[in-house]
Amino acid sequence: MLIAGNWKMFRGPDPVALAGLDAVVCPPFTRLRECVEAGLTTYAQNVHWEAEGAYTGEISAPLLLELGVVGSLVGHSERRQYFGETDETVAKRARAALDAGLRVIACVGETQEQREAGETEDVLRRQLSMLEPHSELVLAYEPVWAIGTGHTATPEMAQDAHAFIKSLLDAPVLYGGSVKPDNAGALLAQPAVDGALVGGASLEVDSFKAICETAARIPS
Ligand code: 13P
Repeated sequence: MLIAGNWKMFRGPDPVALAGLDAVVCPPFTRLRECVEAGLTTYAQNVHWEAEGAYTGEISAPLLLELGVVGSLVGHSERRQYFGETDETVAKRARAALDAGLRVIACVGETQEQREAGETEDVLRRQLSMLEPHSELVLAYEPVWAIGTGHTATPEMAQDAHAFIKSLLDAPVLYGGSVKPDNAGALLAQPAVDGALVGGASLEVDSFKAICETAARIPS
Protein backbone atom coordinates (compact mmCIF):
# COMPACT_ATOMS: atom_id res chain seq x y z
CA MET A 1 0.00 0.00 0.00
CA LEU A 2 1.55 3.29 -1.10
CA ILE A 3 0.28 6.67 0.06
CA ALA A 4 1.66 9.74 -1.73
CA GLY A 5 0.92 13.37 -0.93
CA ASN A 6 0.94 15.81 -3.84
CA TRP A 7 1.36 19.30 -2.40
CA LYS A 8 0.92 20.90 -5.85
CA MET A 9 1.80 24.62 -5.77
CA PHE A 10 1.14 24.91 -2.04
CA ARG A 11 3.84 25.35 0.58
CA GLY A 12 2.59 22.32 2.49
CA PRO A 13 3.20 21.12 6.05
CA ASP A 14 6.43 21.11 8.03
CA PRO A 15 8.39 18.10 6.73
CA VAL A 16 9.78 17.45 10.19
CA ALA A 17 6.23 16.82 11.44
CA LEU A 18 5.96 14.00 8.88
CA ALA A 19 9.26 12.32 9.81
CA GLY A 20 8.97 8.57 10.14
CA LEU A 21 5.75 8.38 8.14
CA ASP A 22 5.56 5.51 5.66
CA ALA A 23 4.55 7.69 2.70
CA VAL A 24 5.80 9.60 -0.32
CA VAL A 25 5.71 13.40 -0.42
CA CYS A 26 5.71 15.48 -3.61
CA PRO A 27 6.41 19.03 -2.42
CA PRO A 28 7.03 22.10 -4.60
CA PHE A 29 10.62 22.31 -5.86
CA THR A 30 11.63 24.85 -3.19
CA ARG A 31 10.93 22.36 -0.40
CA LEU A 32 12.48 19.23 -1.91
CA ARG A 33 15.72 19.61 0.04
CA GLU A 34 13.91 20.16 3.34
CA CYS A 35 11.85 17.01 2.78
CA VAL A 36 14.93 14.96 1.87
CA GLU A 37 16.73 16.26 4.95
CA ALA A 38 13.76 15.28 7.13
CA GLY A 39 14.23 11.72 5.87
CA LEU A 40 11.01 11.65 3.83
CA THR A 41 10.63 9.62 0.65
CA THR A 42 10.61 12.63 -1.63
CA TYR A 43 9.34 12.83 -5.21
CA ALA A 44 9.23 15.77 -7.60
CA GLN A 45 5.95 16.74 -9.25
CA ASN A 46 7.44 16.61 -12.74
CA VAL A 47 10.69 15.75 -14.52
CA HIS A 48 12.07 16.50 -17.98
CA TRP A 49 13.27 13.83 -20.41
CA GLU A 50 16.67 15.39 -21.14
CA ALA A 51 19.50 15.10 -18.61
CA GLU A 52 20.41 18.76 -19.14
CA GLY A 53 19.96 21.52 -21.67
CA ALA A 54 18.31 24.80 -22.53
CA TYR A 55 14.85 23.99 -21.11
CA THR A 56 13.95 26.98 -18.94
CA GLY A 57 11.64 26.11 -16.07
CA GLU A 58 12.22 22.35 -16.30
CA ILE A 59 14.13 19.97 -14.02
CA SER A 60 16.02 16.81 -14.95
CA ALA A 61 16.33 13.41 -13.33
CA PRO A 62 20.09 13.73 -12.58
CA LEU A 63 19.50 17.10 -10.89
CA LEU A 64 16.76 15.59 -8.73
CA LEU A 65 18.83 12.52 -7.87
CA GLU A 66 21.73 14.74 -6.84
CA LEU A 67 19.40 16.32 -4.28
CA GLY A 68 18.33 12.97 -2.84
CA VAL A 69 14.94 12.95 -4.56
CA VAL A 70 13.99 9.36 -5.38
CA GLY A 71 11.03 9.70 -7.74
CA SER A 72 8.66 11.92 -9.65
CA LEU A 73 5.06 12.27 -10.67
CA VAL A 74 4.46 12.57 -14.41
CA GLY A 75 1.35 13.33 -16.42
CA HIS A 76 -0.76 14.85 -13.67
CA SER A 77 -4.04 16.05 -15.14
CA GLU A 78 -3.17 19.62 -14.18
CA ARG A 79 -0.04 19.34 -16.35
CA ARG A 80 -2.14 17.94 -19.19
CA GLN A 81 -4.92 20.52 -18.74
CA TYR A 82 -2.93 23.73 -18.21
CA PHE A 83 0.56 23.10 -19.57
CA GLY A 84 0.07 21.21 -22.80
CA GLU A 85 1.33 17.86 -21.55
CA THR A 86 0.43 15.06 -23.97
CA ASP A 87 0.54 11.27 -23.82
CA GLU A 88 3.80 11.48 -25.83
CA THR A 89 5.54 13.93 -23.50
CA VAL A 90 4.30 12.06 -20.43
CA ALA A 91 5.77 8.83 -21.82
CA LYS A 92 9.08 10.56 -22.63
CA ARG A 93 9.29 11.94 -19.11
CA ALA A 94 8.44 8.57 -17.55
CA ARG A 95 10.94 6.64 -19.65
CA ALA A 96 13.81 9.05 -19.05
CA ALA A 97 13.14 9.22 -15.32
CA LEU A 98 12.99 5.42 -14.98
CA ASP A 99 16.15 5.00 -17.09
CA ALA A 100 17.94 7.50 -14.86
CA GLY A 101 16.96 5.60 -11.72
CA LEU A 102 13.99 7.59 -10.43
CA ARG A 103 10.75 5.89 -9.43
CA VAL A 104 7.71 7.21 -11.30
CA ILE A 105 4.03 7.69 -10.55
CA ALA A 106 2.31 8.25 -13.91
CA CYS A 107 -1.17 9.74 -13.70
CA VAL A 108 -4.12 8.88 -15.94
CA GLY A 109 -7.84 9.61 -15.76
CA GLU A 110 -10.85 10.81 -17.67
CA THR A 111 -12.75 14.11 -17.49
CA GLN A 112 -16.41 14.37 -16.50
CA GLU A 113 -17.33 14.92 -20.15
CA GLN A 114 -15.44 11.81 -21.24
CA ARG A 115 -17.05 9.68 -18.50
CA GLU A 116 -20.53 10.91 -19.42
CA ALA A 117 -19.85 10.12 -23.08
CA GLY A 118 -18.89 6.55 -22.12
CA GLU A 119 -15.28 7.16 -23.18
CA THR A 120 -13.51 6.31 -19.91
CA GLU A 121 -11.96 3.06 -21.13
CA ASP A 122 -10.90 4.57 -24.48
CA VAL A 123 -9.23 7.48 -22.70
CA LEU A 124 -7.40 5.19 -20.27
CA ARG A 125 -6.35 2.89 -23.13
CA ARG A 126 -4.93 5.86 -25.07
CA GLN A 127 -3.16 7.35 -22.04
CA LEU A 128 -1.59 4.00 -21.14
CA SER A 129 -0.68 3.00 -24.67
CA MET A 130 2.64 4.87 -24.61
CA LEU A 131 3.78 3.61 -21.21
CA GLU A 132 5.89 0.48 -20.84
CA PRO A 133 5.95 -1.77 -17.77
CA HIS A 134 8.84 -1.19 -15.39
CA SER A 135 9.52 -2.42 -11.87
CA GLU A 136 9.67 1.17 -10.58
CA LEU A 137 6.57 2.41 -12.41
CA VAL A 138 3.37 3.00 -10.45
CA LEU A 139 0.18 4.36 -12.02
CA ALA A 140 -2.32 6.72 -10.45
CA TYR A 141 -5.94 6.71 -11.57
CA GLU A 142 -7.16 10.24 -10.98
CA PRO A 143 -10.54 10.94 -12.56
CA VAL A 144 -10.33 14.66 -13.35
CA TRP A 145 -13.87 15.27 -12.07
CA ALA A 146 -12.86 13.98 -8.64
CA ILE A 147 -9.79 16.19 -8.18
CA GLY A 148 -10.27 18.98 -5.67
CA THR A 149 -14.05 18.75 -5.99
CA GLY A 150 -15.03 16.60 -3.02
CA HIS A 151 -16.70 14.24 -5.54
CA THR A 152 -14.78 11.04 -4.89
CA ALA A 153 -15.23 8.07 -7.20
CA THR A 154 -17.22 5.39 -5.43
CA PRO A 155 -15.10 2.42 -4.31
CA GLU A 156 -16.80 0.37 -7.07
CA MET A 157 -15.94 2.93 -9.75
CA ALA A 158 -12.33 3.00 -8.56
CA GLN A 159 -12.18 -0.79 -8.49
CA ASP A 160 -13.55 -1.08 -12.04
CA ALA A 161 -11.18 1.53 -13.46
CA HIS A 162 -8.18 0.05 -11.64
CA ALA A 163 -8.97 -3.47 -12.80
CA PHE A 164 -9.25 -2.17 -16.37
CA ILE A 165 -5.93 -0.31 -16.07
CA LYS A 166 -4.21 -3.41 -14.68
CA SER A 167 -5.55 -5.47 -17.58
CA LEU A 168 -3.61 -3.13 -19.90
CA LEU A 169 -0.43 -2.55 -17.90
CA ASP A 170 0.86 -4.65 -15.04
CA ALA A 171 1.65 -2.09 -12.33
CA PRO A 172 0.37 -1.00 -8.93
CA VAL A 173 -2.43 1.57 -9.28
CA LEU A 174 -3.07 4.36 -6.77
CA TYR A 175 -6.42 6.15 -6.59
CA GLY A 176 -6.46 9.96 -6.51
CA GLY A 177 -9.30 12.46 -6.31
CA SER A 178 -10.73 13.88 -3.07
CA VAL A 179 -9.23 11.16 -0.87
CA LYS A 180 -9.92 12.13 2.74
CA PRO A 181 -9.56 10.35 6.10
CA ASP A 182 -13.25 9.43 6.06
CA ASN A 183 -13.34 7.81 2.60
CA ALA A 184 -9.82 6.35 2.43
CA GLY A 185 -10.73 3.09 4.14
CA ALA A 186 -13.44 2.08 1.67
CA LEU A 187 -11.33 3.06 -1.37
CA LEU A 188 -8.16 1.35 -0.15
CA ALA A 189 -10.07 -1.82 0.74
CA GLN A 190 -10.79 -2.46 -2.96
CA PRO A 191 -8.59 -5.30 -4.24
CA ALA A 192 -7.27 -3.37 -7.28
CA VAL A 193 -6.53 -0.20 -5.29
CA ASP A 194 -2.87 -0.29 -4.26
CA GLY A 195 -2.71 3.07 -2.51
CA ALA A 196 -3.69 6.70 -2.83
CA LEU A 197 -2.41 9.92 -4.35
CA VAL A 198 -3.67 12.59 -2.00
CA GLY A 199 -3.90 16.31 -2.83
CA GLY A 200 -5.72 18.64 -0.42
CA ALA A 201 -5.72 16.23 2.53
CA SER A 202 -1.92 15.91 2.31
CA LEU A 203 -1.47 19.59 3.17
CA GLU A 204 -2.50 19.04 6.79
CA VAL A 205 -0.34 16.81 8.97
CA ASP A 206 -3.29 15.30 10.84
CA SER A 207 -5.36 14.35 7.81
CA PHE A 208 -2.37 12.96 5.90
CA LYS A 209 -1.29 10.90 8.91
CA ALA A 210 -4.85 9.63 9.36
CA ILE A 211 -4.91 8.39 5.76
CA CYS A 212 -1.52 6.70 6.21
CA GLU A 213 -2.75 5.01 9.40
CA THR A 214 -5.85 3.76 7.60
CA ALA A 215 -3.67 2.35 4.83
CA ALA A 216 -1.40 0.61 7.33
CA ARG A 217 -4.41 -1.24 8.77
CA ILE A 218 -5.43 -2.71 5.42
CA PRO A 219 -3.95 -6.17 4.83
CA SER A 220 -1.87 -6.26 1.64
P1 13P B 1 -7.35 16.23 -4.21
O1 13P B 1 -7.03 15.14 -3.22
O2 13P B 1 -7.19 17.60 -3.65
O3 13P B 1 -8.65 16.01 -4.90
O4 13P B 1 -6.21 16.14 -5.37
C1 13P B 1 -5.96 14.92 -5.96
C2 13P B 1 -4.75 15.05 -6.80
O5 13P B 1 -4.76 15.69 -7.83
C3 13P B 1 -3.51 14.41 -6.32
O6 13P B 1 -2.54 14.41 -7.30
